[in-house]
Amino acid sequence: MAEVTLDLRGMPKAEAYAELKKHAEAVLEGLNDDVAAMATMSCLLHHAFGHLWTGFYRVVEPGKLLRVGPYQGTLGCLEIRFGKGVCGTSAAKGETVVVEDVHAFPGHITCDGRSVSEIVVPVFGPNRELIAVLDIDSEHKATFDDVDRRALEDLMGWFSRRK
Ligand code: SME
Repeated sequence: MAEVTLDLRGMPKAEAYAELKKHAEAVLEGLNDDVAAMATMSCLLHHAFGHLWTGFYRVVEPGKLLRVGPYQGTLGCLEIRFGKGVCGTSAAKGETVVVEDVHAFPGHITCDGRSVSEIVVPVFGPNRELIAVLDIDSEHKATFDDVDRRALEDLMGWFSRRK
């Protein structure tokens, strides 16, 4: 098993994500455990890119309620209702949401006042059911774009492929 926690800042984003995906899949090889995978991915993503907050909100009541899961960063809100904030919007739509400036996003939930931009990616299980959302928050404006969206959606494919 690969044992290092990579720091990929300074590398072009697309290459960094390709490296991270290889690393994550090697570390998670043979595992069938969503919580262990969420913890591992939070750690790898957080240290690779150095964002403010990186983690998962799990679906605990389908269509209704998300509850915090494994994450890295400052204290996260415990529960978010579907449709609320960026995470709840992504969960309700089943789509990735990229926010350049959270102050311009109506209903944004502030857990850490330093957060300025974010990306939330839905996570689907093997039967295409929504099991969680991945939330990454940055203290800089417009940190995330289509490169992040594509790479993170691809990385989250691990959860639908796991057996
Ligand atoms: N930013 C999120 C809330 C979760 S935390 O920032 C960790 C939102 O508005 O959905």
